[in-house]
Amino acid sequence: MTSSQESSLFTNTGPWIRTIPLAELPVDGTGRAIQVAEQRVALFHHEGKVHAVDDACPHQGASLGDGVISNGDVTCPFHSWHFDLCTGQNTDSLDACVAVFPVRVDGDGVVEVQLPA
Ligand code: FES
Repeated sequence: MTSSQESSLFTNTGPWIRTIPLAELPVDGTGRAIQVAEQRVALFHHEGKVHAVDDACPHQGASLGDGVISNGDVTCPFHSWHFDLCTGQNTDSLDACVAVFPVRVDGDGVVEVQLPA
């Protein structure tokens, strides 16, 4: 896998932060929630790309890292709202979205994330 950078809702980001080895992420199906500095981040490895979004669902705060992935969306485990992993937009036409963080995999196979500065 090559490094990739996803879209972000933020224009001012901090430094890259090393997190976990890519090998520790489930491939498709589900994700994993981790703590990155003060932020809970849900990581996903889906269709060959890594995605990082705010772990807290904007509805009632469920962990999106426990959600299931389907067709590029993560489904919240509490009430089944769907969010696009690339944009963070709610795909149920609701006025809600989750923050998407820039993410990449470094040369050692470690997932790195940028948070808002
Ligand atoms: S907490 Fe996520 S849809 Fe309700």
